[in-house]
Amino acid sequence: MADLPKRKLGRTGLEVTVLGFGTLELRGSFQRPGPGLPGRPLVPTQAQGILNAVLDAGINFIDTCIDYGESEEYIGKYISHRRNEYILASKCGCIVDPASAPPGGGQHVYTRKNITAGVNQSLKRMKTDHLDLIQFHGSPSKQVLEQEGAIQTLLDLKREGKVRFIGASSTLPNVADLIKLGVFDTFQVPYSAIQREHEGVISQAAKAGAGTIIRGGVARGSPEEEGRGDPDAWKLWGRAKLDELLDGMTQMEFVLRFTITHPDLHTAIVGTLNPAHLAKNVAVVRNGPLPASVYNEAKKRLAAAGAVPVSTQ
Ligand SMILES: NC(=O)c1ccc[n+]([C@@H]2O[C@H](COP(=O)([O-])OP(=O)(O)OC[C@H]3O[C@@H](n4cnc5c(N)ncnc54)[C@H](OP(=O)(O)O)[C@@H]3O)[C@@H](O)[C@H]2O)c1
Repeated sequence: MADLPKRKLGRTGLEVTVLGFGTLELRGSFQRPGPGLPGRPLVPTQAQGILNAVLDAGINFIDTCIDYGESEEYIGKYISHRRNEYILASKCGCIVDPASAPPGGGQHVYTRKNITAGVNQSLKRMKTDHLDLIQFHGSPSKQVLEQEGAIQTLLDLKREGKVRFIGASSTLPNVADLIKLGVFDTFQVPYSAIQREHEGVISQAAKAGAGTIIRGGVARGSPEEEGRGDPDAWKLWGRAKLDELLDGMTQMEFVLRFTITHPDLHTAIVGTLNPAHLAKNVAVVRNGPLPASVYNEAKKRLAAAGAVPVSTQ
């Protein structure tokens, strides 16, 4: 079978599969700090199975985070013996020592001490001597990062060889300022047909030479499956009458193909615990982007239904 298509992750020069893998679903029942869907119970053999199936399918980009329950440990335990098959991205700023949590319940701390402890912990958990990419988690502002000297901390970790590239997992409005800084190798933002706000940001980041990593690329799952997707966000689908454009595709197939049709997207880190969903996503991405006429019509209908990219100019 043909290999999954790859795109260059901006100035990192890394050739990443257009379908990457996000490990949030491996968090088990752990509820990460802040809003978001609760995790589902998981037995370790499920994590072992899905992580190996991801690599067997030829996916070469894995995104994880200190905050995703035991997902880093699972990577260390179940696929670290295949380390040369994947580009490994994790995040920092997540609180490593609960005693250092800020008063009032902040979820991230960007001090040198916390970031360095987090990276060292990630390396140990994932049984590796380097992370290919470290990303600020929690969408910190430029001011917060500058105040803490946090970018310098990442550059020092890079000089030490613990990380190869630095990036930010971010959202508007902070992401626009971070792109302008010109120091980040990658940006991770949410995006799909029903969440178009960052459509322009993706192009802005790519134009600045950065790699683009997209989360939420299957719109967080189908609202027809209990606990998946965001029913409110999916109402847009109906308003835009996108069912009329399916031409035999399922909604999930259409959503993923719409995502990867973005010309400046480099990898979509779709998460799943379900091997059948993984196989489906791989097959969908092999089918490639949507035909231009369908893509343009979908964007036209979404805009008419009120979903337009946010302008950062
Ligand atoms: N702030 C941050 O940095 C941040 C925030 C959120 C996410 N992320 C990263 O981005 C990754 C993806 O983001 P996300 O989880 O928000 O969005 P997503 O990948 O769009 O959605 C994942 C959900 O979609 C379902 N799904 C996947 N393929 C499917 C298919 N073919 N059919 C039906 N359902 C399917 C999965 O459920 P099943 O398990 O049932 O398939 C899962 O619940 C995460 O794993 C994480 O690595 C980062």
